[in-house]
Parts: sequence; C-alpha cells; structure tokens
Amino acid sequence: MERLLFVASEAYPLIKTGGLADVAGSLPEVLRQQGMDVRLLLPAYQQVLETIAPPTLVAELDVHGTPLRILGTTLPGTALQTWLLDHPLFTGRPGNPYLDTHGQPWPDNAERFLLLCRLAAAIAVGEAGLDWIPDILHCNDWHTGPAIALTHLHHPRPRTVFTVHSLAHMGLFDRATFERLQLPEDFWHEDAMEFYNQVSFIKGGLVYADCITTVSPNYAREICESPGGMGLEGLLRQRRKHLTGILNGIDSAVWNPAMDPHLAKRYSARSLGDKVRNKRALQARLGLAEGNERPLLGLVGRLVAQKGLELILPVLDEILALPVQLAVLGTGESHYEQLLQARAAANPDTMAVVLAYDENLAHGIEAGADIFLMPSLFEPCGLNQLYSLRYGTLPLVRAVGGLADTVVDSNPQTLADGTATGFVFEQPDAAELLAALRRATALWYDQKQWRQVQRNAMRQDFSWQHSANLYHQLYISPLKT
Ligand code: ADP
Ligand code: GLC
Repeated sequence: MERLLFVASEAYPLIKTGGLADVAGSLPEVLRQQGMDVRLLLPAYQQVLETIAPPTLVAELDVHGTPLRILGTTLPGTALQTWLLDHPLFTGRPGNPYLDTHGQPWPDNAERFLLLCRLAAAIAVGEAGLDWIPDILHCNDWHTGPAIALTHLHHPRPRTVFTVHSLAHMGLFDRATFERLQLPEDFWHEDAMEFYNQVSFIKGGLVYADCITTVSPNYAREICESPGGMGLEGLLRQRRKHLTGILNGIDSAVWNPAMDPHLAKRYSARSLGDKVRNKRALQARLGLAEGNERPLLGLVGRLVAQKGLELILPVLDEILALPVQLAVLGTGESHYEQLLQARAAANPDTMAVVLAYDENLAHGIEAGADIFLMPSLFEPCGLNQLYSLRYGTLPLVRAVGGLADTVVDSNPQTLADGTATGFVFEQPDAAELLAALRRATALWYDQKQWRQVQRNAMRQDFSWQHSANLYHQLYISPLKT
C-alpha cells in the first residue's frame, strides 16, 4: 500500500478560504478510499483546534531547532488521518490562515509556512522519528513549495508532486527574510528559488518537484505562455514534460442538490420543477422581489479582480436593466464591496449583496439562482461553475483556464446535439459579457430548451474518481527523465 503525505495550508471543513480547501478536503480522502495509506498535514490554526474534538498527541519533536508537536485527528466526515502542526506561530492567532484581523498578511508568513515545510520534509525523509515514512510527498501552492526543495538535501527521498492551484500567489519575500529563514545559500539562485531578487516559495515546488500538476488541462497550457505564466512561463516551459493538468473533482456528497441539507427544497434532474422553491426562498431571504418572471443571477466568490469584477461593474446598470435579478455573496477588496453594496441599496428589488463568508447561503445561491456568473480574468480550475452545473444553475463563464474545460456554450449546434451546458464568452470585455448574458436571458424564456440544457449540465460527472485515478497513476508510474 503506497504511503502518501498530502500537505496543504487549508482543508474543508476544518479551515477554508477558497477552492484549495475544497480540494485538500476531498482528494486525499478519495485516494484513501481507493487504497492508499494517506496522512493529511496542515497547521493547527486556532480555528481548527476550536472546532475539533480533543486531538491525540502523535509526536513531539525538534525541527531545525524549533520544538513542535504533531497532533492527530480525523478530517470530520471522513476516516482520513489528519496531522496538525502545533506551534504558537499558528495556534495563537485569530482569523484567517494568511491575514490578520485587519486583512493584512501576517508579517511572519515566511517563517510560519517554512515551519510547515520543514516539518513536511522531515517526515518525508524519515527524520521526524515517526514509524511512518511516505513514498510520495504531495504539496500544494506556495505555502508548501520549499518542502519539496528541502527533500533534495537528503538521500533517499520520496517522490515529490507539486500542485499549482494558482500562480497568482508566489510566496515572495526579500533577501533579509531569506537570510533569517536560514535556507541553504544555493537556494538563492535563479535556477532554484530566487525570482527577481526575492525568494519565491512557489519555485521550491516548480523547480524541484518530480511531477508538477495544475488543476485543469487548459491552465497547464496557459501557464507555459505569457501572460498566464506570470513571469514563470520560461521555467514552466523547461519543465513542460513534467507538468500535467488534472481537472479538480468535486465532493459529490457535499454538493448534491438531491441531498443538500442547506436547501429549502431538495431536487434532482427528474424533479427540476422543485428548484424554483429554492429561488423563492433565496429571494425572501435576501429581500428581493419574489416571483419567477425573470431569471435570477448568482455570484459567489472572492471579490477580487481575478473573478472578473472589472467586467461586471462597468455594465452593472445595463445588467440590472435586463429582466433579471442579481444575488452576490462574497468578501474581498473593499472598493468592490462598497460599489456592489451601493448598487444593491439603490435597487433593492433586483439586487442583493451579502458581504460575508457563508456556506449555507453559498449552497442556497447555487440552488436558487438560474444563472451563475463567473466571468473570471483567469481561473486555474474553478469549482463554483462545477457546483452550478450539478445544481442545474447554468454557468456563464469566460473561456479561460478550467472554465473553458468544463462549460460548453449554448449555440444552435450544441443545443441540437445535447452538449450545451452553459454560456461562454471569449474576450475579457464587458460588452461580450453583456452579450452572453442577453443570450442566456433569452434562452431562459424558452423553458423547454432551458430544461434540456439544465439536464445536460446535471448529467456531467465531475466527481473525483477519474481525476484521483490520474493522480494515482502519477504517483506510481515510472518517472520521466
Ligand atoms: P477560488 O479558490 O479561486 O476562490 P474556486 O471556485 O475554486 O475559487 O473555489 C471557491 C470556493 O470558496 C467555493 O467552494 C465557494 O463556494 C467558496 N466561497 C467563496 N466565497 C465564499 C463566500 N463568501 N461564502 C461561502 N463560500 C464561499
Ligand atoms: C485556486 C484557483 C481556483 C481553483 C482552486 C482549487 O484558488 O483560483 O481556480 O479551483 O484553487 O484548485
């Protein structure tokens, strides 16, 4: 039985800020169910310790001069053994894994996540004094990149896999921080972790991993070119042979409209008539005018430029002049929050904005909306459009990253051959977004066709099984040289 150490900075339902948590909270459990011996490693944030039953003590150790503890628990709702790095750098802090209560990055994030990396590397090379040593170390995003680089200081070392969920965050720190971290001086090199006179944690994964993956085939292509590669395209092209795009799956138990405890009324492709009960419940909850005379648009996500707010805001008045309603749930940059809130206050019957992180409402919008807006500027995979497909809430997306891989535009041909699942536009241009929205709204009034597209969407299978098999193959197949 292969042993896998899966390391991430967040995992649902213990702690979540975005899609990384959804992946780290579901893929390792599926791999365990498929027969691997898996440990999930993440920091023991204060919020995590507050939500779990008292953990066990797995080990007390000293990592690079720092005393710490590994606590053991199981990921709620699963049998996945989860190890928590217990140290005051994580435990004594309220709020977000990355940001303080004022929304600023913790000033010692480099030290915090390097400690996670040093522990992961120590476990991976058998220096943590545990009787469990992995065959594969799988790290995710910048927070865990140096763990992969550090395993190269040892022989033997396990196979290493690094998954890029987003290149937008590279974990960049200045030379003084690099010196404080006491990483080997060789790492300060353009062929190692140096990037334009800073240290880049993500390069620890990109340069040193045996296999690099990213979360959709299309994003794997995009990051090998500019602008998608964000300055790392040269390195990624060099490593192209070792780079694979594997589409994220979804937790089909958590995101299932037929069983979802958050819904006013559960439904399936066979009882789509019941979906409208969720629309009415959502309208009532958000104070929108109630009724089913016009489509309800939903948007759930981080309110940041990545998610296409620069495409929505310039045409928001035109959007609200269509026969639609709009429900937004998210948190993010304060100027977006304020602009959205002001438009909602001026249009209380047609637009509602909730500036919060709210799992229950996220499910309510997925079920209650007719159309899900996701016009991202870039999107490595995107999970919300996958949830929307499953909920028969047709996604309207830009043809970028994983969105292009997962949504099929409704046009005469795809409507005729039964492959249409949503609405897709090409360029990052507000006028194109508006045109796609007009097409979507027009189709909504043709309820017979709309139902058909909903059924096409709900028939798609984005459960983890297929993608988990691809990861498993990567873990065990001969390495490319
Ligand atoms: P990203 O990881 O770039 O934020 P994804 O689409 O991959 O985008 O994943 C976002 C995840 O976070 C989804 O599960 C989504 O439902 C959730 N989410 C984002 N914002 C909120 C919010 N304000 N309230 C509840 N869930 C949210
Ligand atoms: C990142 C990406 C998102 C992806 C998620 C999980 O946050 O922005 O597109 O779905 O990671 O892989």
